[in-house]
Amino acid sequence: MKRHSPSAERNKGPIGDVLGHVLSASGRALEVASGSGQHVVELARRFPSWSWQPTDPDPDAIASIEAYRTESEHLNIRPALRLDVCVEPWPVDAVDLVLAINMIHIAPFEAAVALFGGAARRLPPKEGLLVTYGPYSENGVLEPESNRAFDRSLRDRNPAWGIRDLTELDRLATTSGLERTETFEMPANNRLLVFRCVGAASSVTQAT
Ligand SMILES: C[S@@+](CC[C@H](N)C(=O)[O-])C[C@H]1O[C@@H](n2cnc3c(N)ncnc32)[C@H](O)[C@@H]1O
Repeated sequence: MKRHSPSAERNKGPIGDVLGHVLSASGRALEVASGSGQHVVELARRFPSWSWQPTDPDPDAIASIEAYRTESEHLNIRPALRLDVCVEPWPVDAVDLVLAINMIHIAPFEAAVALFGGAARRLPPKEGLLVTYGPYSENGVLEPESNRAFDRSLRDRNPAWGIRDLTELDRLATTSGLERTETFEMPANNRLLVFRCVGAASSVTQAT
């Protein structure tokens, strides 16, 4: 039931450290592509004034998240929901933070488009944050060789997958009403990107 991701175990601390510099005192967080559930438990522990909604499209991931959630006894983690960013409506209302760790490169580019658009529609202007974490190329240059090898392995598994360029994501952000305001260098040649809502995106209100 419980999955264990060694990389999630390694990066959950550094991600939590950076979010400590970025997040306001309290709010509602939506994690997409939660995977095993290791991140949401760590973040709920570190940020008890935030409510955390973990999600994933994969039923096995939902089972794993639920196993971690119930074991942790953190009351600020909501029961995991099925959410594929490409399928609207999302089963969530307005949120203050959308977090996507290691998703953008392990999905077709349409998923990144849906992530940015869906996040912008649910985040409040100016205060709302979309945070993504993973490897990225910059101006078409992907460093180091280990990331290039990883990119080749992703594209071998699925030609629609692959490490995205910061320029592509910045363009996507602009068309969605977001702007990249901070970039943090992270361990193992990853980066954490902070996109902030710049305007009044059309909001989504729906029953939960
Ligand atoms: C490499 S795992 C990352 C899991 C976790 N965030 C982590 O870093 O350990 C990629 C995750 O993306 C999810 N995913 C793939 N396509 C998605 C989509 N269209 N919408 C939401 N999640 C998606 C998968 O189900 C999987 O859990």
